[in-house]
Amino acid sequence: MTTADRHARCARAVARCDAFGAPPYSERGDQLVRRYLTGAHAASLEALRGWMGEAGMSVRCDGAANLIGRYEGVVAGAPALIIGSHIDTVRNGGRYDGALGVMLGIDCVQALKDSGRRLPFAVEVIAFGDEEGSRFPSSMTCSRAVAGRWDPSALQMRDAEGVTLADARTAFAEPLAGAETAARTPDEILAYLEAHIEQGPVLEAEDLPIGVVTTIAAQKRLAVRIGGVAGHAGTTPMALRRDPGPAAAEAILAIERICGESEAVVGTVGRIAGQPGAANVIPGAVEFSIDVRAPTSAARDHALARIEEEIQAIAARRGLTLSIALLQDLPESPCDPGLTAMLEDAVRAVGVAPRRLFSGAGHDAMVMAELCPTAMLFIRCKGGISHNPAESVDIADAALAARAMLGFIDILAETWPAPASPAA
Ligand code: GLV
Ligand code: MN
Ligand code: MN
Repeated sequence: MTTADRHARCARAVARCDAFGAPPYSERGDQLVRRYLTGAHAASLEALRGWMGEAGMSVRCDGAANLIGRYEGVVAGAPALIIGSHIDTVRNGGRYDGALGVMLGIDCVQALKDSGRRLPFAVEVIAFGDEEGSRFPSSMTCSRAVAGRWDPSALQMRDAEGVTLADARTAFAEPLAGAETAARTPDEILAYLEAHIEQGPVLEAEDLPIGVVTTIAAQKRLAVRIGGVAGHAGTTPMALRRDPGPAAAEAILAIERICGESEAVVGTVGRIAGQPGAANVIPGAVEFSIDVRAPTSAARDHALARIEEEIQAIAARRGLTLSIALLQDLPESPCDPGLTAMLEDAVRAVGVAPRRLFSGAGHDAMVMAELCPTAMLFIRCKGGISHNPAESVDIADAALAARAMLGFIDILAETWPAPASPAA
């Protein structure tokens, strides 16, 4: 295939992401939001099913509503290289976070089909339904199910409208088998490869189109509730209030200060809600999220211990109640050194110096690492902007990424099956 053909194909991958930016693939017309198990999710599965089928894959939807396309190897039923990413978005998100990795995976398989190639292993493309946790409080529900880490208590999680995950599954357009049936076993999976926009500015700053991920940051998410006494905004003297609002403000500033003390730790309060949420009512409670990440679980937990201590002190000083619930705990996830070296070779082969990068963003790869060795390729995005409708990628960068992914597949094919160790 010529470079021009490859460019045209990647233009199509990017165009498919762009098409997914509007209804019916977005829940809203004025912004992109595609959350797990919504009508927009179902519509995107229908389109992906067609594209995966055209690329020569057999397609199925698993029990966690992941869409899986499978391109058999020379021998049917061989272990698979999985190429995956997610198709859910944050609210008012960008068009390439997750979706581009899925579309590029489909293009890689299309290239194999077009050249009539079968490999010593199967290639599967997975479109995970929930990575962001934008509908239910916990994220990466879908890769957890595939990695055999499904927790049935997740079925009781509620979205902002009070719908449980169990009910959302029942209402979904596709009939779903039990989520636990999505689990795969290590003997059927050879490796996991994820291509993803960088979501940061390093590649752009160094004028590099693609880079290779070494490790994904450890992250924890918590839900905090500070309770006080609701009251009239006009009649309750300031000294007599038990208002959780200023306490939440103090807590958020403490999070900023503590995380800011170490260059490696980042902390975010992305959601904050006062109850009942009226301009003329002192809130009875304020709830907010905390997301803390660091290169190691130890650094993350050290910062979080200090944060929790400070919030407890703030609540106690103000005579308020406090509850802190852990929603998510993901340790740091190093990519597999052997696969990463292969990916570096593949990047070098397309004429790019393989820049190693740490990922502050979470990815399905960190959960899949519990099932199989993983590798991740980053693609430059404009201004490093992500989780924002201004997200933008260059088609030429996507084309290079696809070439590197195919090169990685070739290298893997040359070294697979790994020579059996001599019998003792
Ligand atoms: C996903 O985008 C995350 O890093 O939270
Ligand atoms: Mn994201
Ligand atoms: Mn993502």
